[in-house]
Order: sequence, then C-alpha cells, then structure tokens
Amino acid sequence: MKTKLFLLSALVAGTLTSCIKDDAETVVHNYSDDEFATVSKHLSLPMQVDDYNLALPDVLGAFPTNTNPKEATLGRVLFYDKRLSSNGEVNCATCHIPEKGFGDGEKFSKGVVEERTSRNSLALGAFPSFNAYYGFGGTRMFWDNRASNVIEQATETMKNPVEMGNTNLGDLANELLQEDYYRILFDKAFVNQPWLTNEEKMLQALQTFVTSIGCFNTRYDKGLVDANGQDNNDFSSFTQEENRGKALFNTNCASCHSLKSTASFGGATSITEANNGLDSDYEDEGVYSVSFNEADKGVFKTPMLRNIEITGPYMHDGRFSTLEEVVEHYSSGIKSHANLHPSLRDSNGNPKKLNLNEADKQALVAFLRTLTDKTSLMHSRYSDPFKG
Ligand code: HEC
Ligand code: HEC
Repeated sequence: MKTKLFLLSALVAGTLTSCIKDDAETVVHNYSDDEFATVSKHLSLPMQVDDYNLALPDVLGAFPTNTNPKEATLGRVLFYDKRLSSNGEVNCATCHIPEKGFGDGEKFSKGVVEERTSRNSLALGAFPSFNAYYGFGGTRMFWDNRASNVIEQATETMKNPVEMGNTNLGDLANELLQEDYYRILFDKAFVNQPWLTNEEKMLQALQTFVTSIGCFNTRYDKGLVDANGQDNNDFSSFTQEENRGKALFNTNCASCHSLKSTASFGGATSITEANNGLDSDYEDEGVYSVSFNEADKGVFKTPMLRNIEITGPYMHDGRFSTLEEVVEHYSSGIKSHANLHPSLRDSNGNPKKLNLNEADKQALVAFLRTLTDKTSLMHSRYSDPFKG
C-alpha cells in the first residue's frame, strides 16, 4: 500500500524529491507493524495518530496550535490508567468524565479512600480550548488558583491521599515503563526530549492531553459565527427566550464569565476570581487559604461555563444542584461580605438584587443551556483507550 502510494505520487509529482515529501505527508503511520501489534494488545489507538490541535472559529479569539499529538496520545492513556492511583481503582476520569463535561456530577468526589474531596470537581470541558484559557494570560488552576499549570496540579492530585494517594511519582513512572506498550508510547512522544526523567515525561504528557481538551460546537458558537462575532445582536438561530437570556447574561454575568477562548478579549479582561456572595462567613476561605491576604477571603475562581448544563452540582462546594437555584442566587440570594465583588453590589454597596421575574429566570437558564456541546467531548481522541 505504501509502495503503491509512493509510485502514484511519483507519477503525479514528476520529480523524485517532491514525491518523497508528498509520501511523507500522506502516510503518517505512527507505529511499525510490530509496535502497533504490541500497543494494540492493550489499547485501542489509531494507527495514524489523532490530531489534537483544535480549529476554533476566529470569533472566539486566539488559541495555540502546537500540541504534540504523540504526547497527547500518551497523556490520554495515562489519564485513563488506574495504576496512577495507590489502590489501582481510580484514574483521572473517575472525577473528570467526558460525558459529564469532564466533571463528575458529584458534590464532592470520591478517590482512593472513603473520605471525599473538600471541593467540587472542576469541569475540564468548560472551555473552548483549555490550552488557550490557561496557556496565555497567567490564569491559574483549582478553585483557589493555587496551581500555575497542569504539571503542578497533577503532581498534587496524584500525591493527594484522598484523591490518588501516590507517595513517589518517579517510582510510578518507572513502573509504568516496565510495560512494552508504554515504552513505545513514551519513546514516540519524547523523541526530541530524551533527557527528561520518566516522571517529567509522564506529567508533561498528562498536561498536553488535558490542555488539548476543548469544545466549541455549541449552539451559542454557531450563533456567534453566524453573527460575525457580534455577541450583542440577537442570534437568528436562537429562540426569543434564548436571545432574552443572552442579553441578561451579557449585562449581568459576562464581565466575570467569559465565553471567549481567553480571559482577555477585544481589550476587555474578565474577572477571573471573585467573591460572589454565597455566604457572609465562609467555611472554606478559597484563595485566602493560599495567599493569607484578607482581600482574598471567600474569593474563588470564576469558572468557565461551557457545558454548565451537564457539570452540576454547582459552586466550589456543589451547594446548588440546578441552574434554576444558581440563577435564584444571583437574583435574590447574594449575601453581604467584605469582599463581595463590586459588580455584585448596588449603588449603595449592598448586595445586588436583580429581582428577575419568572420569565427572565427561565430565559437565563435557557441561554445557559445553549452552551452545551457533548459531541466535541465525546470525540474518540478523548476517550478511554484501554481494552476490556
Ligand atoms: C478523586 C477525584 C479526582 C481525581 C482522581 C482527579 N481529580 Fe482533578 N480535580 C478534582 C477536584 C475536586 C478538583 C478541584 C480541586 C480544588 O480546586 O481544590 C480538580 C481540579 C482539576 C484541575 C483544575 C481545573 C481548573 O480549571 O482549575 C485539573 C486540570 C485536573 N483536576 C486534572 C486532573 C488530572 C490530570 C487528574 C489525573 C492525574 C485528576 N485531575 C484526577 C478531582 C479529581
Ligand atoms: C463578580 C463576578 C461574577 C459575576 C458578575 C457572576 N458570577 Fe457566577 N461565579 C462567580 C464565581 C467567583 C463563582 C464561583 C464561586 C464559588 O464557588 O465560591 C461563580 C459560579 C457560577 C456558577 C457555577 C459554576 C460551576 O462550575 O460550579 C454559575 C452557573 C454561575 N456562576 C453563573 C452566573 C450567572 C448566570 C451570572 C449572572 C446572573 C453570574 N454567574 C455572575 C463570579 C461571578
């Protein structure tokens, strides 16, 4: 087959040099037959490596396009490998499930022990492009923004006694490399960085996979493309109610919850952390527990809202189980707090009451439901590759 293609392109191209180039471009098999047989004993991976670079519509803004697909492929395998946990029962996908927007649908998550995590799992599928959101602009990870990248996050998560319970990540990586198929995948992924330790390679591959996740085939995106990026105009593909909800969202919510690929877009920067008035007195102090700065008490990450319909329960402690409850919070339930964000206060500095009527509340929820995109996240390149 390869020879046939080669001859064919030689005929078409006419010169030998260009036909070699054409051949290399058309047949990019990632594995030799032997390698593929070894890998395929355990994993369902495509012979030709998946493309992990997303083609975001221009209207969503800038995004990186330099994802190494072989690193992402290794990262995908690691993401689903239960050997990453001390009891062999928990993988990253235990708490980050693709069909749940890469959240887990739980108030608090269960890892290797009975005790639950102290915060709600963050949905990794909440972004048009995870890479664009965290890769530019210095936005940080976790509810309290304590990690600057996935390498820091994954190191912490894998060592966390409640989540994955590993004591030594170097030993873990070396153990994985006892498997023939992991040796093949690691070699392919890091052919240009052979000097990295196995632990560094494992973490970097996980990072490359996680940051490759993105979704931008929502009804909102379609509307935005049709409207040439003019978010303030009604979308022709939306119902009247959804357009009403969009207008309410743009006025009251978009300053914090950006729908674009990055927190900074078109000269405006969205508010990436805030106190949104859940309590007057917080049990979990959020960013303060990292910074010990009074102004950070009760301040948490502003989550991105793609797939919000399927990533409940909501807030850092999963206190709201429906979007209706969330909207009611912003309409009538905001509590007074020293750090309550100014945009959630009225002109006297008191907690703002939007006092939305029933139709407005429903419109806002209807709009939030236009942000769902299950198809992107269900792409096979993000799925569990382990056989049986
Ligand atoms: C036991 C459940 C559990 C497991 C297993 C788990 N996570 Fe998480 N993950 C969470 C929770 C809970 C949070 C939020 C924690 C916080 O903010 O303090 C989180 C947050 C994250 C974030 C931050 C997202 C953001 O937008 O800030 C990333 C990235 C992430 N996890 C990736 C991973 C990866 C990669 C793995 C596997 C190595 C993994 N998780 C395993 C529960 C889990
Ligand atoms: C001042 C910034 C700000 C504004 C304005 C704002 N939010 Fe939020 N929002 C936040 C923060 C911060 C959180 C997380 C708070 C926490 O968990 O402690 C949040 C959480 C949420 C969540 C839960 C996300 C999740 O993954 O659990 C939803 C849904 C939400 N907001 C919707 C809205 C809507 C709808 C509006 C407008 C009516 C709005 N927000 C206005 C800052 C804001």
